[in-house]
Amino acid sequence: MAGMGDHVAALEASLAVAVARGGDPQGEVYARLFARHPAMEAEFWRDGSGRIRGEMLMRSIEACLDLAAPHAPAGGWAAAFLATEAVTHAAYGIDRAVFADFLPIIAGQVAAACGDEFTPAMAAAWALVLDRAGVVLGAVPGAAPA
Ligand code: HEM
Repeated sequence: MAGMGDHVAALEASLAVAVARGGDPQGEVYARLFARHPAMEAEFWRDGSGRIRGEMLMRSIEACLDLAAPHAPAGGWAAAFLATEAVTHAAYGIDRAVFADFLPIIAGQVAAACGDEFTPAMAAAWALVLDRAGVVLGAVPGAAPA
């Protein structure tokens, strides 16, 4: 078996390649979010500067790196963070299914930005992260009916 840190390394490598090729991913990630969920753009009415969107993206990427680490999903910060934010966002009026779409949107943007440099190891790392996020969010009580 490959070393247990390999998923984290592959995820980090994908982010580095994506940024090297495409620059700051923030604009593209939110363009994808609002293309898929047009009503959501208005939810950021408080975010005139884009810094809340920046914070949300940065924390989400940190959560992805944590989910790729060997200790997840049995414990770990990302599981608690995602579960907490799912509840916080429900209070903002963000549907659970829409909330759950954000990490897949990030993964899709990273893969697209990497282009032909997106390796099978990177794909495997992101698949693991999305899988684990799905398990975590599926276990949050009070999930909105699909
Ligand atoms: C994995 C998914 C997500 C994570 C981890 C996440 C995380 C965060 C964090 C850390 C913040 C800043 C602090 C806070 O208010 O809690 C934030 C703010 C916000 N998020 Fe998300 N978010 C996610 C998905 C989404 C989605 C899909 C939407 C859809 C529009 C959304 C809408 C917002 C809004 C509107 C705010 C700002 C609220 C305000 O006015 O202060 N989030 N998010």
